[in-house]
Amino acid sequence: MASYSPLDAARVQSALEGMPVGGRIIYLPEVTSTMDVARQETAAGSEEGLVVVAEEQTVGRGRFGRVWVSLAGQNLSFSVVLYPNRWAMSRLSVAASVAVARAIGQVTGLSPSHKWPNDLHFHGKKVAGILVESALRQGGVQYAIVGIGVNVNADPSEMLTGGYQATCLAKELGQPLSREELLTAVLAELGMVYMELKGWGEVWEEWQASLDTLGKEVRVQWGDRVEEGRAEGVDGDGNLILRRADGSLATLTGGEVTLQS
Ligand code: BTN
Repeated sequence: MASYSPLDAARVQSALEGMPVGGRIIYLPEVTSTMDVARQETAAGSEEGLVVVAEEQTVGRGRFGRVWVSLAGQNLSFSVVLYPNRWAMSRLSVAASVAVARAIGQVTGLSPSHKWPNDLHFHGKKVAGILVESALRQGGVQYAIVGIGVNVNADPSEMLTGGYQATCLAKELGQPLSREELLTAVLAELGMVYMELKGWGEVWEEWQASLDTLGKEVRVQWGDRVEEGRAEGVDGDGNLILRRADGSLATLTGGEVTLQS
């Protein structure tokens, strides 16, 4: 018999029905790590947007092999299964941390700050952490699992060994808050931000796939400047990467391209 009040995962799931993330939630009292369960679910062909949430993790993990402490009945520890394209993949951890920050703002009116790249803090004390684990397959992303831990109603400071300070939302707000309400808000926001990312990824990949400049010898002129070389690719901002005859690389933001025979 749990000595804490279990998360009402069914309530969260029904609030998210039909949304991109959280339409199905697997709720478990204890796991090694929700990341492990989510990964097993991908191996079994799980749908995108599946959420695995646990009260306790015996081997909860953070970035750089740190331990993540989950306090049953108090805080939130969950993982989300996603199948992003490459564009979305490289932006996923930023997107997730913004989604969590927005949700915290909606539910509490508080504005956590970001510690690069994606920890959420109040006055230098960590309130939420994000861990993204993924697998690649030839030419793309097989799956990504976004793990999110939020200190909602309990500050785990006394149990931390990672050399950082922590806080919890209840402490910052001055009153306890509903884990269900916060989880619903985080998953709804994550779904929205993720769909935008995925949509942009499709635009990007369509553009890249039809770029007939790549692999060709080109001359690029802008103003009175000219660069010549082999068009090797485009970077994440859409700039053209040119390999000059001497082997050096030039990044070109614009210009008129002429194909050289
Ligand atoms: C970090 O700040 O280093 C990332 C912490 C991520 C913790 C979450 S809790 C849910 C999921 N399961 C884990 O084992 N880790 C992530």
